[in-house]
Amino acid sequence: MLVQAYNLMAHGFLLFLLFSCIISTNIHACKPTERSSLLSFASTLSSLHLNWTSIDCCRWKGITCDQDGWVTHLLLPSKGLKGGIPSSSLGNLTHLTHVNFSHNSLYGSLDTQFFMSLNRLEFLDLSYNLLSEELPLSLPSSNIRTVDLSSNHFHGAIPPSFFQQASNLTSFNVSNNTLTGYVPSSICLRHSSPFLRLLDFSSNAFSGNLAPGLGKCSELQVFRVGHNNLSGLLPEDIYNCTKLEEIALPLNFLHGTISDKIVNLTNLASLDLYYNHFDGELPLNLGKLSMLKFLTFDFNNLEGALPPSLMNCTNLVELRLGSNNLEGDISMLDFSRLSQLTKLDLRRNNFTGTIPRSLYSCRSVKAIGLSGNLLEGQIEDDILSLKSLSFLSLGYNRFTNLTGAMKMLMSCRSLHALMLGGSFVGEGMPSDDDMVDFHGFKNLRLLNLDDCQLTGQIPLWLSKLRNLEVLFLAYNQITGPIPSWLGTLPRLFYINLKDNRISGEFPKQLCRLPRLVYEPNIASQVEAFEIELPLTIGQNSNPTFLPHRLAYFAASLDLSNNNINGHIPAEIGQLQFLHKLALNSNNFSGIIPDQISNLKNLEVFNLSMNHLSGIIPLSLASLNFLKEFDVSYNSLEGPIPTSTQLQSFEASAFEGNLKLCGAPLPNKCSPNKGIDADNKNNKDMHNGLHQLPWFYMFTALGFIVGFWGVCGCLIFNKTWRYAYFRFIDNVQDRLLYMMIIVRINMMKRRT
Ligand SMILES: *[C@@H]1O[C@H](CO)[C@@H](O)[C@H](O)[C@H]1NC(C)=O
Ligand SMILES: *[C@@H]1O[C@H](CO)[C@@H](O)[C@H](O)[C@H]1NC(C)=O
Ligand SMILES: *[C@@H]1O[C@H](CO)[C@@H](O)[C@H](O)[C@H]1NC(C)=O
Ligand SMILES: *[C@@H]1O[C@H](CO)[C@@H](O)[C@H](O)[C@H]1NC(C)=O
Ligand SMILES: *[C@@H]1O[C@H](CO)[C@@H](O)[C@H](O)[C@H]1NC(C)=O
Ligand SMILES: *[C@@H]1O[C@H](CO)[C@@H](O)[C@H](O)[C@H]1NC(C)=O
Ligand SMILES: *[C@@H]1O[C@H](CO)[C@@H](O)[C@H](O)[C@H]1NC(C)=O
Ligand SMILES: *[C@@H]1O[C@H](CO)[C@@H](O)[C@H](O)[C@H]1NC(C)=O
Ligand SMILES: *[C@@H]1O[C@H](CO)[C@@H](O)[C@H](O)[C@H]1NC(C)=O
Ligand SMILES: *[C@@H]1O[C@H](CO)[C@@H](O)[C@H](O)[C@H]1NC(C)=O
Ligand SMILES: *[C@@H]1O[C@H](CO)[C@@H](O)[C@H](O)[C@H]1NC(C)=O
Ligand SMILES: *[C@@H]1O[C@H](CO)[C@@H](O)[C@H](O)[C@H]1NC(C)=O
Repeated sequence: MLVQAYNLMAHGFLLFLLFSCIISTNIHACKPTERSSLLSFASTLSSLHLNWTSIDCCRWKGITCDQDGWVTHLLLPSKGLKGGIPSSSLGNLTHLTHVNFSHNSLYGSLDTQFFMSLNRLEFLDLSYNLLSEELPLSLPSSNIRTVDLSSNHFHGAIPPSFFQQASNLTSFNVSNNTLTGYVPSSICLRHSSPFLRLLDFSSNAFSGNLAPGLGKCSELQVFRVGHNNLSGLLPEDIYNCTKLEEIALPLNFLHGTISDKIVNLTNLASLDLYYNHFDGELPLNLGKLSMLKFLTFDFNNLEGALPPSLMNCTNLVELRLGSNNLEGDISMLDFSRLSQLTKLDLRRNNFTGTIPRSLYSCRSVKAIGLSGNLLEGQIEDDILSLKSLSFLSLGYNRFTNLTGAMKMLMSCRSLHALMLGGSFVGEGMPSDDDMVDFHGFKNLRLLNLDDCQLTGQIPLWLSKLRNLEVLFLAYNQITGPIPSWLGTLPRLFYINLKDNRISGEFPKQLCRLPRLVYEPNIASQVEAFEIELPLTIGQNSNPTFLPHRLAYFAASLDLSNNNINGHIPAEIGQLQFLHKLALNSNNFSGIIPDQISNLKNLEVFNLSMNHLSGIIPLSLASLNFLKEFDVSYNSLEGPIPTSTQLQSFEASAFEGNLKLCGAPLPNKCSPNKGIDADNKNNKDMHNGLHQLPWFYMFTALGFIVGFWGVCGCLIFNKTWRYAYFRFIDNVQDRLLYMMIIVRINMMKRRT
């Protein structure tokens, strides 16, 4: 028995081997002509990633053959292919059905004749390459089903004959090119593409109306033409495409109302129309779209109240209706059925009432944006039942009891971004002692309490927010000093305290903000972090858009319009990653510290309207990124450093400094004035000179030697001699002084 069974198995095994051998030779017998076409293809493109060496080309990576040894699939995404499309070798692979060259560096044009010769092609993916020029005149054949030409550099209009043959096309993507002309709605008209399911024309430069015709694409599921230059109305027959699951037309100039017929699109899951000019009311029966998950309508001109039926869209995940003219009492709406809701954006409308209590039962909610409405009342502690709440924007309403709200929200562990600016007007800054001990706001990264006319001081509980990155406290009536602990918050890199009544000196400890001193690894940790809804600040009528990622905020220290006095500490030079430094309209006195030139990333620098004296340090000219510069209305003096980028700013950036001279100011530096200024300057310099590093000393020494070397050989005319002696005077003075300081410092260090 055993032996028989063994024999049977052995025979079976042999048979199996034989069989699989036959099959594999049948499948993988690469035709020599195909092999040479492939090799020719590979040799035309410089690619390091193809490893086509073995005999049987059907076993090569990315190649599939049919049973007769014809190559059918050429799937080479992300293989570093570089060069023009090798049409002659590809054209010889006459049995190709699947081609995928996405994410390579193919450039040049798609030649019409070659393209049409691929007459068995069914799938073509050339996305994410560098192809340019106009599209070929026609798609290859009636076999073609999927075409992805997205993310290339194609331009020009889509040729009228392009889709003529493509009677089996199901999916077409040309997004992210620079195509112009009309969106070819005719694609559906001739019954040419009855199977079309996906059309993506987004992110191009298509313009004009969306012509009727789409209605004939009865199988259409996804239709995207967002981010183009479309105008006009939505074509009525779009409501005939009852299989539509996604309509995305954001960032265009479309107008008109959304017809009630939209309720016929019962499969619709995503309706994305933000940033257009749509007006009128939302369709009354919108609630019949029971599959709807994403409704994004922000930045349009919608008016009227929210239709109560909206709350029948129980699958809603995102509801974004911000920046419209919507109104009505939202306290009455019953959100309790929207159990999937994660983002609600009703910002910048005219909604009234209180925060709907039913909203607190939407346990999936991560983001609530209600700012810029006419809402009133207090924040209720039911809000704490939203365990995932991460983004809360309630500013520019008529809410009251900030202290109550903050004490409550402190224990919301998931909260990342809290925007309350422009509400709670005229209340006191919450500052109870128990808030300090509570260690709340564990994960808060952004806090905005701008524009509330809050009184009181910068509160101590802020010192416990170890994850805080961005702090807005501008436009309040905050008094008292800037607390030195502010400089210890490990992630803080954006501070706006503008327009308050803050007094005292600039605390030196603020110059130790870790994120601005070390550009620590923290930055890379937080880089990917994205807030749930786009941020805007400011009033309804004139919102300022802020970046989606906190990491895109420019590192900033804005203390302008306060009563801060004393010197600008030399230590400020440590904040080397700062992009904006605004100290204007305060009472700062003393000199502009030379160390500011260490702030190599500085783009905005404003010291205007203070009492600063002395010269403008020459080293400031090394701040290459400066875009805004203002030192007007101080007591600065001497020549503006010449032949530097400082000359590229308007005279108004320097005006109001009576003793300042030279371009771009109209008053020239007269020689006498120059001497006066410089002499006086030296006295002023004594405040700041002790920070001048060795570097300057050696440069100065080197310069003197060089100067002697060159000038010693010249016969001086009067002006030269004059300039020379002035120069020596200055340098000798400074050198002498520096040596004394260096000695003193060395002695200090010894003791
Ligand atoms: C190339 O292919 C051969 C055989 O298929 C294999 O032995 C070799 O490791 C491959 N080389 C690379 C760099 O992948
Ligand atoms: C394509 O085939 C033709 C004729 O069959 C041949 O002359 C030509 O060399 C081939 N081209 C390539 C690149 O293999
Ligand atoms: C082409 O390959 C990429 C990467 O593997 C893949 O994501 C894409 O879906 C493929 N294209 C087609 C049309 O299958
Ligand atoms: C293309 O569509 C026609 C009908 O319009 C059909 O007969 C044919 O089989 C289809 N071809 C492919 C490759 O699907
Ligand atoms: C079209 O291609 C782009 C990439 O270029 C992709 O992001 C987009 O999702 C595609 N469209 C559809 C509807 O799949
Ligand atoms: C658009 O195409 C460019 C290259 O042309 C690419 O870098 C970018 O990632 C694409 N954008 C999207 C959203 O796919
Ligand atoms: C957008 O379309 C309008 C007309 O509809 C045209 O005047 C304008 O030049 C277009 N803009 C771009 C960037 O194509
Ligand atoms: C939409 O469909 C209806 C009924 O199916 C039909 O009567 C109407 O003509 C179609 N409209 C368009 C513009 O195709
Ligand atoms: C909408 O659907 C109803 C019934 O399902 C139908 O009578 C009507 O013609 C449809 N409207 C359009 C525009 O297709
Ligand atoms: C919501 O749907 C229910 C049935 O599912 C229906 O009775 C009710 O009238 C609908 N509400 C609105 C406002 O359309
Ligand atoms: C709110 O209503 C007032 C008065 O009705 C109107 O002036 C204002 O433009 C509206 N604001 C918005 C954002 O709709
Ligand atoms: C403010 O809110 C707190 C907490 O909800 C509450 O205890 C307090 O009574 C409120 N104060 C006023 C004046 O309503």
